[in-house]
Amino acid sequence: MSANVLEVDNLQTSFFTRKGEVKAVRGVSFDLAPGEILGIVGESGSGKSVTAMSIMQLLAHGGKIVGGSVRFDGKDLATLPDAQLRAIRGKRISMVFQDPMSSLNPLIPVGKQVRELLDTHEKMSKAEAKERVLELFRMVRIPEPERRYSSYPHEFSGGMRQRVMIAMALACKPEVLIADEPTTALDVTIQDQILRILRRLQAELGMSVIFITHDLGVVAEVCSRVAVMYGGTIVEEGTLDEIFSHTAHPYTLGLLASVPRIDGDRDERLESIPGSPPDLMFPPQGCAFADRCAYARQICQTTPPPATRLSDTHVSHCHLLSPEAPAENNPLTEVRSAHA
Ligand SMILES: Nc1ncnc2c1ncn2[C@@H]1O[C@H](COP(=O)(O)OP(=O)(O)OP(=O)(O)O)[C@@H](O)[C@H]1O
Ligand code: SF4
Ligand SMILES: [Mg+2]
Repeated sequence: MSANVLEVDNLQTSFFTRKGEVKAVRGVSFDLAPGEILGIVGESGSGKSVTAMSIMQLLAHGGKIVGGSVRFDGKDLATLPDAQLRAIRGKRISMVFQDPMSSLNPLIPVGKQVRELLDTHEKMSKAEAKERVLELFRMVRIPEPERRYSSYPHEFSGGMRQRVMIAMALACKPEVLIADEPTTALDVTIQDQILRILRRLQAELGMSVIFITHDLGVVAEVCSRVAVMYGGTIVEEGTLDEIFSHTAHPYTLGLLASVPRIDGDRDERLESIPGSPPDLMFPPQGCAFADRCAYARQICQTTPPPATRLSDTHVSHCHLLSPEAPAENNPLTEVRSAHA
């Protein structure tokens, strides 16, 4: 028996479109330990949401897992019959989406929507279910829960709607919560409040969380471990300290250079990585980042970089970590020699 709650192994997901196959996720692997908050960070289009939707088995039309596995409780979710999947999804693994409006029914009061979820998954009387919904509303700090129970989604602010979504995701006390950019649409103060609520609830309930964001600043506040995605692959993975202080991938270095400093002026112009991500209809043969990497060499264009394990928890996929890579113009010389 494995000690992990969730094990994603060499996951490959494609969308079959009229124009051709979009290889959105190209061999993603990671484990989720009990009670940990793993961040998945990367630019728009890197495959974060498709990874999440693959785990949930909720891919949009044309989307298909074409390889690898998603193991939960000893079973591969990708091959599980629908009935068994429905018993897990929303109950043992649940998800908070970026846009709460798209997952709430505008015509039904929010309290009833959360209660219906309990009706589906738990054996409870109506009164018990209502009491549980009110308790959930209190947990996510929705003021006046009794009154709010009967309100409709449009009567809530963006931040309050996101709290309802979190309440809904936690209704059945899931073992795994996937939060896909849960605060991106919110302003900074509200974002901080939601992050604080999520962190507190994670600690109270002891669930494991996959926290998806494009913002390394948010990762630093919430997560204990981070996987950095680029072009449908994970390029580097490590603890918060490894990713921030012993960075071992040029793409992560680029992302870090574009994080606003907490003490800095918010309007300060940040260095963003020039160029744009690869077209996943025609994914690069070698390193996904080769076209934008300031340190790319010949081999980067032709050969996928191997995984270099720098510690029990730190893995990077970059040719610069190879013993044959030159030391000059190599930002990873220090990590490499520390490891050697
Ligand atoms: N329904 C779809 N049909 C075709 N291609 C898709 C579909 N959904 C996603 N993709 C493609 O899959 C790739 C990964 O998309 P994904 O939504 O996972 O990115 P992301 O990292 O979540 O980005 P963002 O930060 O913008 O949410 C992109 O190239 C996207 O165009
Ligand atoms: S493998 Fe090459 S292109 Fe990719 S990040 Fe490393 S140096 Fe850059
Ligand atoms: Mg996304």
